[in-house]
Amino acid sequence: MADLLVYGSYGYTGRLIVEEATDRGLDVVVAGRDRNAVENQAIRRGCEERVFALDEPRLLDLALEAVEAVLNCAGPFVETADPMVEGCLRTGTDYLDITGEIEVFERLAAEDERADDEGVTVLPGVGFDVVPTDCLAAHLVERLPDADRLALGFEAAGGISPGTAKTAVRALGGSGAVRRNGRIESSSIGGETRRIDFGRGERTAMAVPWGDVSTAYRTTGVGDIAVYTAVPSWVPRAARLGSILGPLAGAGPVRSLLESLVDARVDGPDERVRREGTSHVWGEAETDDGERAVSRLVAPETYRLTKLTAAEIAERVVAGEAPTGFQTPAGAFGPDLILDIEGVERTDEPVEERS
Ligand SMILES: NC(=O)c1ccc[n+]([C@@H]2O[C@H](COP(=O)([O-])OP(=O)(O)OC[C@H]3O[C@@H](n4cnc5c(N)ncnc54)[C@H](OP(=O)(O)O)[C@@H]3O)[C@@H](O)[C@H]2O)c1
Repeated sequence: MADLLVYGSYGYTGRLIVEEATDRGLDVVVAGRDRNAVENQAIRRGCEERVFALDEPRLLDLALEAVEAVLNCAGPFVETADPMVEGCLRTGTDYLDITGEIEVFERLAAEDERADDEGVTVLPGVGFDVVPTDCLAAHLVERLPDADRLALGFEAAGGISPGTAKTAVRALGGSGAVRRNGRIESSSIGGETRRIDFGRGERTAMAVPWGDVSTAYRTTGVGDIAVYTAVPSWVPRAARLGSILGPLAGAGPVRSLLESLVDARVDGPDERVRREGTSHVWGEAETDDGERAVSRLVAPETYRLTKLTAAEIAERVVAGEAPTGFQTPAGAFGPDLILDIEGVERTDEPVEERS
């Protein structure tokens, strides 16, 4: 039996993860629905291959029966996670993906009991979204066990890949999201802003519907969570305007046009940017009594970090180290998982007590 099937293996991020996983010695099967792309990659990397679409359950099950775990890199995951997880539950295969979509995390969390009964690990979000922020959330709640609120944030430079751009196009016309009193609430994009020091001086940051709104709650039990990203100061106003025009941008013909522009124009960061870039992650835990803890991470560029965290978690899952059922990265492996990733450093500010 092979270790890991990577589905969507020939996409921008899939390719990076296949390289990293095979370099670490994992026995990887490359897979997807485009025969030429899969076969060419299999020859280049010296891997086995499988060609199937996700609406072919017989071929899907045959492929899954031959591996310990699958790592789904075919996004938007709102379209691919359900059929792949169903296949995993039928065949007893562990499931990983690199989603950051709140809707996907919530749907898969609802399969916790079934997955546990089948002895299957379901662990979505093994990339930049959500591994570093999830680990920081868990670390902050270890530092401040009575935390009532969590704010998380990231500052990432260096450009985006085609699939990330398409996932963002799908989200146009939608709203933001935060968690209040344990429930996910929609918020207006650009409506919630604050100043955050990600480690290089204060920047404007805007709340975004990032995966941790779902996952950090499951990892820590804290019921109030917002996630921010650093943006130029004009962006929140433009985003508020965008949420007015959003329904038009999200409409079928406009969306198709934007997706074809992504196909033509978006390549993803190149090797130099991935090697030299850094990302900065910040987190704050607060109690109603006025205690406040802040911690930060400095980490590699987001796609480099994604390949490193995905391969690290895949190795651990294949080695049988993950609990069964629905899992978050830090829920499965603890807050220090991120410190095992090359190039990551964590710093803590002393806990403050406000009167
Ligand atoms: N969590 C994170 O930190 C993180 C990091 C990086 C990327 N991502 C996400 O990962 C996804 C992939 O990004 P990317 O830039 O690698 O995209 P990409 O270069 O466009 O590649 C996407 C891959 O998925 C396949 N795919 C898409 N829809 C499919 C479907 N319905 N059925 C079968 N295969 C399908 C594509 O195959 P075809 O060519 O056959 O369509 C391709 O192999 C995006 O959703 C992105 O947001 C997340």
